[in-house]
Amino acid sequence: PRPILLTRHGESMDNVRGRIGGDTELSEAGEVYSKKLANFVEKRLKSERAASIWTSTLQRTILTASPIGGFPKIQWRALDEIYAGVCDGMTYEEIKKNMPEEYEARKKDKLRYRYPRGESYLDVIQRLEPVIIELERQRAPVVVISHQAVLRALYAYFADRPLKEIPHIEVPLHTIIEIQMGVTGVQEKRYKLMD
Ligand code: F6P
Repeated sequence: PRPILLTRHGESMDNVRGRIGGDTELSEAGEVYSKKLANFVEKRLKSERAASIWTSTLQRTILTASPIGGFPKIQWRALDEIYAGVCDGMTYEEIKKNMPEEYEARKKDKLRYRYPRGESYLDVIQRLEPVIIELERQRAPVVVISHQAVLRALYAYFADRPLKEIPHIEVPLHTIIEIQMGVTGVQEKRYKLMD
C-alpha cells in the first residue's frame, strides 16, 4: 500500500480575516503548521525516495510546502482553490448583505452553484480529473497541499463519497488525511497536528 497525504495549507491571513479566495501569506499559526508538517512528512516518508509534494499555484500552499526538504515539489493550477469570481476576497457576511440572492442560491444548491464569473463545485471536480489520473498512476507516495473545496472533491473521490455530500465534507485546517491505497481497498487515518 502507498499513502496519499492530503492537507490544506497552513492558516492564511485571509483565513484569519474570514475572507474567501485571495492569495495571502500564512499567519503565524500557519507558519508553525508548515514546520510541523515538514517534520511529519520527513519522518513518515523517510525511505520513500520517489515521493513528491504537490501544491497549488497559490502562495499559501507553496509557503506551507517550503520547509519540507528532500522531495521534488510540483505546482498544479488544477489544485487552486474554487474561484469565487466577483465574490473573491469577500467574507460570507458581506456576500449575504450585498448579494443576498447569490448567498441564497449557493445555500440552496452548493454543489451546482457557480459564483458570477467564477466556479462551482462541479467545475472544480471536472478540472481535477487530470490530477486524479496522475495520482492513480503514481506508485510512490504523494503529499497534496491544497485548499478546502478542492480537497473535499479529492477526498470524496478516494473515499467513494456521493457527489451531493462533497461541498459539506469536513476538511479542517492543520490536519493531515492519510489515504492508503491497498489491494483490499482504501483506508484512512487523520492526524491533527495542531488546533
Ligand atoms: O475559507 C477558505 C476557503 O478555502 C475559501 O477560499 C473558499 O472559497 C472556501 O473555503 C470554500 O469552502 P465553501 O465551499 O464551504 O465556501
